[in-house]
Amino acid sequence: MTEDQPLLDDHLEVGSCERCPALVASRTQIVEGVGPIDADLLFVGEGPGASEDERGEPFVGRSGDVLDEALRDAGLTRTDVRITNCVRCRPPDNRDPTAEELANCRGYLETEIERLDPTLVVTLGKVPSEHLLDRSVAITGESGDVADVRIAGASRRVLLSVHPAATLYDRSQRDGFFETIATAAELTGTGSVDGSAGDGSRGDGQSRLGEF
Ligand code: URA
Repeated sequence: MTEDQPLLDDHLEVGSCERCPALVASRTQIVEGVGPIDADLLFVGEGPGASEDERGEPFVGRSGDVLDEALRDAGLTRTDVRITNCVRCRPPDNRDPTAEELANCRGYLETEIERLDPTLVVTLGKVPSEHLLDRSVAITGESGDVADVRIAGASRRVLLSVHPAATLYDRSQRDGFFETIATAAELTGTGSVDGSAGDGSRGDGQSRLGEF
């Protein structure tokens, strides 16, 4: 282990970190990745928002509701997959993480990817897509694309996706997002897409996010 490759514990938890002064000041807690440490499917978001900071779990706010719906439509639940973020502490005022903050947290993400060795990594949004592909990404156009990328010492299959929050600002992105999550389930041989709610509506016909 080097200082650049911090050690996560057996549960892949960072535990404590003070590398980013602005994030240490703004966070309530470190938001660790969740889900089985041998999951085939790893979702990588940008960083915790207010709900995640409060509850200490990734994607538990409105974006998480959309992700949960899409997983359910693909025949998965969040207990089947691992969900993590590029940075584990909430940036102030919901700003994007800086390049330095992303770099400070990179070792944790790489260690998590290396230990998990997932069949597929799904990047949720522009920030994680650019961070892992190391190039600029036009995420709306590239969502659904698959790339083989060298991460943490091995070639990893990465599926690009828009961020679930994009479906809240722009409803036209909803079907594409749900299709991408279904593709993730197919590529990993997990889940069971039955198409019963493939339009993103809940099985009971009530969209939890219908007011948006
Ligand atoms: N958005 C993210 O990118 N990550 C979260 O955990 C929640 C919202």
